[in-house]
Amino acid sequence: MLKVTPYKDSTQQKKQQVEQMFDNIAPRYDFLNHFLSLGIDKLWRKKAIKILSGYNKTGSLLDVATGTGDFAIAASKLNPSKIVAFDISEQMLNVGRIKAEKLGLSKLIEFKKGDSESMPFSDRQFDAITVAFGVRNFENLEKGLTEFNRVLKPDGVVVILEFSKPKYFPFKQFYFFYFFTILPLVGKLVSKDSSAYSYLPESVMAFPDDQKFLSILKNCGFSRSKQKRLTFGIATIYIAQK
Ligand SMILES: C[S@@+](CC[C@H](N)C(=O)[O-])C[C@H]1O[C@@H](n2cnc3c(N)ncnc32)[C@H](O)[C@@H]1O
Repeated sequence: MLKVTPYKDSTQQKKQQVEQMFDNIAPRYDFLNHFLSLGIDKLWRKKAIKILSGYNKTGSLLDVATGTGDFAIAASKLNPSKIVAFDISEQMLNVGRIKAEKLGLSKLIEFKKGDSESMPFSDRQFDAITVAFGVRNFENLEKGLTEFNRVLKPDGVVVILEFSKPKYFPFKQFYFFYFFTILPLVGKLVSKDSSAYSYLPESVMAFPDDQKFLSILKNCGFSRSKQKRLTFGIATIYIAQK
C-alpha cells in the first residue's frame, strides 16, 4: 500500500504528521466535515450505528480515531454500559470532551489519548469497536486492525466507516472533480492548514477499499466480514466479527 503523508517536506513518521495535522485543524474540523459533505457524514454515521444495533452489543464500546467524538456520541443511542473514545490528537479530543459535556454524556464517554496501533487496553476488553474515517490514517493498517482483534471479546463486532472510491460514470467523474479541486481549496481556506485537505483525497485514493479491505480484515483475524457501500460508493461501512 502506497504511504501517503500529510506534509510532503516533513521528515516525521506518518503517525506524528497525522497527529499534528488533526491538532491543527481541530477547531474547524466539525464545521468543515459537515459543510464539505453537505451533512451526509451524519447520515452515514447514523446508518453505521443502526447496523451495529442489530448485533445487540450493549456492553463496553471502543470508538477508535474518535476525533471530536461524533461517532461515539451517535453510539450513545445504543445505551452501552461504557464508551471509550480513543484518539491520537489531544486537540480533537478536547473538542469532543466539550461536546460530550454539553450533551450530558461525560460520564458515559471517556476520552482517552493514544495510538490505535498499540492500545493501552486488555485482551478481550470490548464488546464492539467503531471507527469512522480513521483507519485510512493509520501508519500501519494491519497493525491497527490486529490490535482491534486483540481488544475485542470473542464474537465481538467491528464497524468501520471509511471513504471509498465511486466506480461508475458519470457520478465518479463529477465526484472526483469536486474531491480534487473544490474540496482542497475550501479546506485550505477555512482550516488554514495548506495540506490537510489535499491529503484527504490522496489518502482515499491510496486506501485499499472494497474487496481489498475485506481481505485485509480476514488476514487480521476477522471473519464474517461484509460491506455496505453508501452514496454511489463515496463511503463504505465494513462490518466484521472476531
Ligand atoms: C478524519 S478524523 C475522524 C474523526 C471521527 N471519527 C469522525 O467521524 O469525524 C480521523 C481521526 O483519526 C485519528 N487518528 C489517526 N491515526 C490515529 C492513530 N494511529 N491512533 C489513534 N487515532 C488516530 C486522528 O487524530 C483523527 O482525529
